[in-house]
Amino acid sequence: MDISLETLHARSSVRNYLPQALGQDTLDALSALIQGLEPCPFGTSPRFALSGKEIEADKTRGAIGTYGVIKGAPAYIVGCTRPEPWAFVDYGYAMEGLILGATALGLGTCWLGGIFNRGAAGRSLGLREGEVVPAISPVGIPSGRGSLADRIIRGSAGSDRRKPWSELFFADGWATPLSEEGAGPYAPVLTALRAGPSASNKQPWRVVLTRTEGGTALHLYLKEDLAYTKAIPGVLLQDLDAGIAMRHVSVACAELRLPGSWKRLTVDPAPGPAPLRYIASWLP
Ligand SMILES: Cc1cc2nc3c(=O)[nH]c(=O)nc-3n(C[C@H](O)[C@H](O)[C@H](O)COP(=O)(O)O)c2cc1C
Repeated sequence: MDISLETLHARSSVRNYLPQALGQDTLDALSALIQGLEPCPFGTSPRFALSGKEIEADKTRGAIGTYGVIKGAPAYIVGCTRPEPWAFVDYGYAMEGLILGATALGLGTCWLGGIFNRGAAGRSLGLREGEVVPAISPVGIPSGRGSLADRIIRGSAGSDRRKPWSELFFADGWATPLSEEGAGPYAPVLTALRAGPSASNKQPWRVVLTRTEGGTALHLYLKEDLAYTKAIPGVLLQDLDAGIAMRHVSVACAELRLPGSWKRLTVDPAPGPAPLRYIASWLP
C-alpha cells in the first residue's frame, strides 16, 4: 500500500457514512493492510480485525455505543493490546498505518478512543485475558455531508485548527521556536505530523530538532494533560497521539527520502519542564 504525503493531508475524521456494504475487493484490501502491518517501534504486538455493524447495533448499550456520533458505517477497524510499557504508543502507530491505508483506498475513518461500545468491540476480537481495546475506527464511504453530531464535534474540538508551529516545534532546546525555514528539508515532515489526528484535537506532540555531524534528529515529546490522558480507565489516550505522530514522521520521511528510524534514547536528549515527557527520537 502506497501511503503518500498527499494521503496524510487528505485524511480527516469522517462521522457520516453511506450505509452500503463495502465490496469484497475493498474488504480484501483492508484485510491485506491488517496482515501486512510491520513491527511497531517499541516492539509490542497489537492485533487488529475488521468488524461489522454490530458495534453500533448493540441495543442494550443505547447511547453508550457510537449512536449519534458515527452514522451509517458499514464496518469498523477494531484492535486490542496488552497494557505493557509503550504499548499504547505502538497501538497509535499501527492503527494510524491502517487509517492512512484506508484513506489511500478512498475510505473515510475516525479514531474513536472515548466513548464507544468497548464490550462489543472486544467480543468481535475474541478479547483474551489482560487485553484492552484502546480505540477503534469506523470505515466506509463518506456520505459527503457532515452530520449534525459531526459538525458539533468538529466545532467543539476545533478539528480544522492546528496549533501554530511556534507552539509545537523547537530548535536545539525549548527556548527557541523552530521556523519552517529553519526546519529545512524536515519542514514538510513536521507539517505532516501537525496534520495528524489527536484525541480532542489537543495536539500534545512537541518536537525538538537538533543537528549534529551525523545529521538531523527529531526528538518527540508529549505535553501531557495528565487528567485527560487517563480519562478512559486502562488506556493512555495521549500515548496513542504520540504513536500517530511517529507514523506520520515515518511516512513523510520515507516519501522525502530522509533516511532514519525511531529509537528511544536512554538519556532524555532535551529535558523540558513538566508535563513534557520524552517519547522517542527519529535518528538518521
Ligand atoms: C486517540 C484519538 C481518540 C479520538 N476519540 C474520538 C472520539 O471518541 N470521538 C470522536 O468523535 N472523535 C475522536 N477523535 C477524533 C478527533 O476529535 C480528531 O482527530 C480531531 O478533532 C482532529 O480532526 P481531524 O481528525 O478531522 O483532523 C479521536 C482522535 C484520536 C487521535
